[in-house]
Amino acid sequence: MTTTTSRTEHPRQDAEREVVLEARDVTKHFTVRGSKGSAIVRAVEGIDLELHRGEIVAMVGESGSGKTTVARLLSLYYPTTGGEILLEGKPVSHVTGRKALKYYGQVQLLFQDPFASLNALKPIRHILGRALKIHGKARGAKQVEERIHELLTRVNLTPPEQYIDKYPHELSGGQRQRIVIARALAVEPRVMLGDEPISMLDVSIRLDVLNLLKKLRDEEGLALLYITHDIASARYIADRINVMYAGQMVEGGSSEEVIHDPQHPYTRLLLDSSPDPGRGLEGDQQSLFDEVGDLGEPPSLITPPKGCRFNPRCPFAMDICNEKEPEKVEVSPGHWAKCWLHQEGRADLLKQRNIQFGVPIETAAAEAGIDTVNAEDILDRTVALEGETTADLGPFQP
Ligand SMILES: Nc1ncnc2c1ncn2[C@@H]1O[C@H](COP(=O)(O)OP(=O)(O)OP(=O)(O)O)[C@@H](O)[C@H]1O
Ligand code: SF4
Ligand SMILES: [Mg+2]
Repeated sequence: MTTTTSRTEHPRQDAEREVVLEARDVTKHFTVRGSKGSAIVRAVEGIDLELHRGEIVAMVGESGSGKTTVARLLSLYYPTTGGEILLEGKPVSHVTGRKALKYYGQVQLLFQDPFASLNALKPIRHILGRALKIHGKARGAKQVEERIHELLTRVNLTPPEQYIDKYPHELSGGQRQRIVIARALAVEPRVMLGDEPISMLDVSIRLDVLNLLKKLRDEEGLALLYITHDIASARYIADRINVMYAGQMVEGGSSEEVIHDPQHPYTRLLLDSSPDPGRGLEGDQQSLFDEVGDLGEPPSLITPPKGCRFNPRCPFAMDICNEKEPEKVEVSPGHWAKCWLHQEGRADLLKQRNIQFGVPIETAAAEAGIDTVNAEDILDRTVALEGETTADLGPFQP
């Protein structure tokens, strides 16, 4: 196991004590039926996640990795296949009726598309007033009006009179997303789950919405889940980052540690594909929203690879990676990864520059006409592959 030096103290020590929402070993399988019969999609497996008061946790992963499914499980939109969701320590996975309604008031989901999630035929006064009344947060016309003004002010839509009678189509994308956030705030939630809440907004206004979410964390103590495929925006907004790959969480830790000292090859791939993961913090905030590069093909979730699901794309894959799933290893306080490199004492490989992804070394060797590589001696593979071919296998150069 490697040891890493903690660069920063946990950014929000006081938040650590109060876990608001938690997922324990949560799994979701979907059954899909086609002309040839049915199959099981293993969309999410063994997810552990904690959301703390006054903290933003980012969940980062490429398309199809299960991010939306996790958000929907946490909002009780889907029943879990296994595991448990807990709000303030109490299991909620199977609540119904009034208890479920109470839960929906505490945990609000923000969607990607603010336009689709607002009723286009109703003005803002109606949209916000309805949320307040349904959840019993205001009574009587005067109180409802006052609360709507307060909500618009909290999301920086001021003066409120300028917005209250507008219809969604009369607002910009960023203003609409602020209305969606105001509607979520109307029910006085403890948790907000943002499923790519800025990805459909113009680049110029994305930062404003992220800053609003930070303000809600800091001033109102909300626990926030920020879902994204862009690790740079996760770094900008989040206190902690969890990395998802093919339905599983593979690494988690403070944002600074995950960015500066990634402990899973897939996190390295995300960082290497991101034009500049440090951007957004040193002034160049527009480039915070560049898209990540080509990440290659993720595996099927109907027939996921045996062992570690990343093994078909991992340049460090060893025999054991194709056989057994790696366990969670804590590499420094609060920073963990699931990768055999840690259990096999080979995590120093992660520090190499210019890792070439998508071609495990055995495949590269086979393509170069070299016999089986000794998987037990990955560090010595340059010996097994000596000669002209090693130059093509960059990361393993001595
Ligand atoms: N209702 C469903 N029925 C069957 N399969 C589903 C269902 N919902 C999601 N899936 C599958 O589960 C996997 C995870 O999907 P999910 O939408 O959670 O990924 P995601 O990380 O949010 O992707 P994206 O970044 O594209 O939004 C995908 O393979 C998807 O096809
Ligand atoms: S080294 Fe093995 S366990 Fe680690 S990511 Fe690569 S394939 Fe998975
Ligand atoms: Mg999604």
